[in-house]
Amino acid sequence: MGGGQKRIDAQHAKGKLTARERIELLLDEGSFEEYDMFVTHRCTDFGMGDTKMAGDGVVTGWGTINGRMTYVFSQDFTVFGGSLSETHAQKICKIMEMAMKNGAPVIGINDSGGARIQEGVASLGGYADVFQMNTLASGVVPQISMIMGPCAGGAVYSPAMTDFIFMVKDTSYMFVTGPDVVKTVTNEIVTAEELGGAKTHTTKSSVADGAFENDVEALSALRRFFDFLPLNNKEKPPHRPFFDSPNRIDESLDTLIPDNPNKPYDMKELIVKLADEGDFFELQEDYAKNILTGFIRLEGSTVGVVANQPMVLAGVLDINSSRKAARFVRFCDCFNIPILTLVDVPGFLPGTSQEFGGVIKHGAKLLFAYGEATVPKVTLITRKAYGGAYDVMASKHLRGDVNYAWPTAEIAVMGAKGAVEILYRSELGDKDKIAERTAEYERRFANPFVAAERGFIDDVIMPHSSRKRIARAFASLRNKDLQNPWKKHDNIPL
Ligand code: HXC
Repeated sequence: MGGGQKRIDAQHAKGKLTARERIELLLDEGSFEEYDMFVTHRCTDFGMGDTKMAGDGVVTGWGTINGRMTYVFSQDFTVFGGSLSETHAQKICKIMEMAMKNGAPVIGINDSGGARIQEGVASLGGYADVFQMNTLASGVVPQISMIMGPCAGGAVYSPAMTDFIFMVKDTSYMFVTGPDVVKTVTNEIVTAEELGGAKTHTTKSSVADGAFENDVEALSALRRFFDFLPLNNKEKPPHRPFFDSPNRIDESLDTLIPDNPNKPYDMKELIVKLADEGDFFELQEDYAKNILTGFIRLEGSTVGVVANQPMVLAGVLDINSSRKAARFVRFCDCFNIPILTLVDVPGFLPGTSQEFGGVIKHGAKLLFAYGEATVPKVTLITRKAYGGAYDVMASKHLRGDVNYAWPTAEIAVMGAKGAVEILYRSELGDKDKIAERTAEYERRFANPFVAAERGFIDDVIMPHSSRKRIARAFASLRNKDLQNPWKKHDNIPL
């Protein structure tokens, strides 16, 4: 009963489920094994000695999602506002340690007023203990945070160190300092929702990977998401039964690329048509929409997809899209998830805001992430692959295992217009001559064959056969074994 019926009613009145109701929806029926139900806090200050509640504001244990094991903690807002005490932190750390030892993910359901004020520094120490465990568990087991209520102050940093953050619209928020402090310090007037609600973090800050309408939708989406993930860094991605022939031909892909090279098309259509049963779990859908990231399955096995989206900013790489994709590539590489890269990129976005914002370093993140990744990498260039962005997008040179291109691919240092303007500057006044030079450049370079002649492209494939060819490519890489040189850890440009 947590903090009692009255507080449970208040929780429900806010449109939120209780900690236990959430666990019940998340896990397979009857699979939850609870630990530390009898733990209570040890604080005696501020009359706390008289108010002990079993479990101390967090429900912890393990259970299964579609038969696969996960550890879970769920903060109970009805007990001291879900605030984190020393013992509350110990309970979380205990299951995180077990998760690492036993190779199962950790799902944290956050709904908390932050540090238990009555406990002072003991609570701060508890937070730091959780942070330390988050750091150690990173790359060992997947860590997923579901924000289902307040998450403020230093408390945000535990979710921030996990692999994925999901939020519930209107009932959850995350910020380092709340609206009152913001007003005092910067004189800005902002609501909690504007400052740190789901919309803010999925569109502006990129802190969150997805947002859902309510608790029930969020937890059922989390179950679907969980099915894509391996349980730990030693496992291969999960394999599920599939009912979609890997040899499926899709004639409609032959006309996906418009005749006009400057006309956009929806790259999501290609992803969905490649995927088993058209199932694509997109991450960071509303942020840096010029790049798409998410999971599909091919022949039943999880594949991470990174794809330029020509519909937004012509699919250009910029600071935000580089950061978004780099983090995703690194997650896949940590957890042995093969990566499919779909390329239609005109280059990096020019401009002072990009240069001043450090596009050099941020672009390097994606380059670095692809360069260090040892998982199977299959790349398909559908149209443009220009300049440095060609190199970055899982090219052969960054140890792409199988690199395909459609006949419509244009692999070159830059587009014809730009190239001719530089090479034939003196002829710019002569329209006919420039048109001739442009046509010549296009004939020579606006195709995949120059790259294919050098072996940078392994084959030029017909769009309709893409699912079959890509599935076969990944099948051929199932036993890929590639090791990077020994190092303590790398130094990715952060
Ligand atoms: C102890 C807390 C608490 C806290 C809430 N409660 N926060 N108890 N420590 N941090 C208790 C309340 O006393 C109340 O108890 C119950 O939880 C519900 O709180 P309400 O205020 O009635 O709920 P609501 O109106 O929904 O507001 C929720 C809230 C607010 C916005 C979270 O409670 C709040 O602002 N709390 C303080 C937040 C805060 O400043 N935390 C410290 C942040 S600094 P009863 O008995 O009435 O049910 C931090 C540092 C982390 O976290 C350090 C890491 C490095």
